[in-house]
Amino acid sequence: MKVAVLPGDGIGTEITAQAVKVLSRLAGAGVPLELEEAPVGGAGYEAAGDPLPEATLKLARQADAILFGAIGGPQYDALPREKRPERGLLRLRKELALFANLRPARVYEELAGASSLKAELVAGLDILIVRELTGDIYFGEPRGIATLPGGEREGVNTMRYRESEIRRIAQVAFDAARRRAKRLCSVDKSNVLETTELWKQVMIETGAQYPDIALSHMYVDNCAMQLVRNPKQFDVIVTGNMFGDILSDEASMLTGSIGMLPSASLDAGGKGLYEPIHGSAPDIAGRDVANPLATILSAAMMLRYSLGEERAAGLVEDAVRKVLREGYRTADIYTAGTKKVGTRQMGDAVVAALAA
Ligand code: IPM
Ligand code: MG
Repeated sequence: MKVAVLPGDGIGTEITAQAVKVLSRLAGAGVPLELEEAPVGGAGYEAAGDPLPEATLKLARQADAILFGAIGGPQYDALPREKRPERGLLRLRKELALFANLRPARVYEELAGASSLKAELVAGLDILIVRELTGDIYFGEPRGIATLPGGEREGVNTMRYRESEIRRIAQVAFDAARRRAKRLCSVDKSNVLETTELWKQVMIETGAQYPDIALSHMYVDNCAMQLVRNPKQFDVIVTGNMFGDILSDEASMLTGSIGMLPSASLDAGGKGLYEPIHGSAPDIAGRDVANPLATILSAAMMLRYSLGEERAAGLVEDAVRKVLREGYRTADIYTAGTKKVGTRQMGDAVVAALAA
């Protein structure tokens, strides 16, 4: 099985290197994995003048799964939009039709105290955000910045969703709820936006085929509030691209650190791109302090969802739990009385736990 490894920029290279160590260890133990690296984002721009170089896209298409680090950095902010690192990721999602983004937010017992919320509010929390990833205002046309007659500039983006796009993400979310606590909350802004009124209707229609799932609806502003008021009321949340972007960052903080959260972006056939939900963190890049666990957990999701290696996935997740139990902490999840380690040491600790 071929895995395309796209480290990207900033801490992306440091954290993917740790996940690669873990995967190599599994490969050494007989899991048939072949890893190949390619540049993307700012690194792609530097290597080939394009945030998604042709060769990288080709490798991503050929691979059975993609492990992605993070992209972006202030040095690229002045580039034309087409050349910016973010475009590399957005194009990859679109080109490979990775429409279903799964973002679990789970609180590890050992980290309940690291959350900014009271430990009792988040202890045992286990929610899954299903975010639509190839539509909405992210990709809607028309878009752009135009100069109006008279000289004033106007920025335009278009929020739009087709019924078929809503239906396929609805099915992913209902199916996911079926494997969990069977509760699905669809998040919209149907009191104001027609796009999301259609979203809500299609969710209800799709729900007819899932009588065993309790479907509820919530406005996005209320959901943002409920996530910090009483997050354990949620099981699966399904929402559009932009709301999902925002709510998943918010949900990540419930778990103690955005450095803990993996994600999967899947196409209709189960091929996927796996990445931590955090960004490239240029402020801490190159200092060996970033938390590699979100990327290592993303590799576990990859083993499970795209490579059919359920057992190996479980071993990696157990190894992560073990290092947390043993007290290893990167700076973002450090609390007094635990063992502070750097990026590489954390990667080594997971490999050691895996070997044991
Ligand atoms: C994410 C990120 C991306 C997004 C950026 C880097 C384009 O914030 O994956 O959540 O907005 O989707
Ligand atoms: Mg985001």
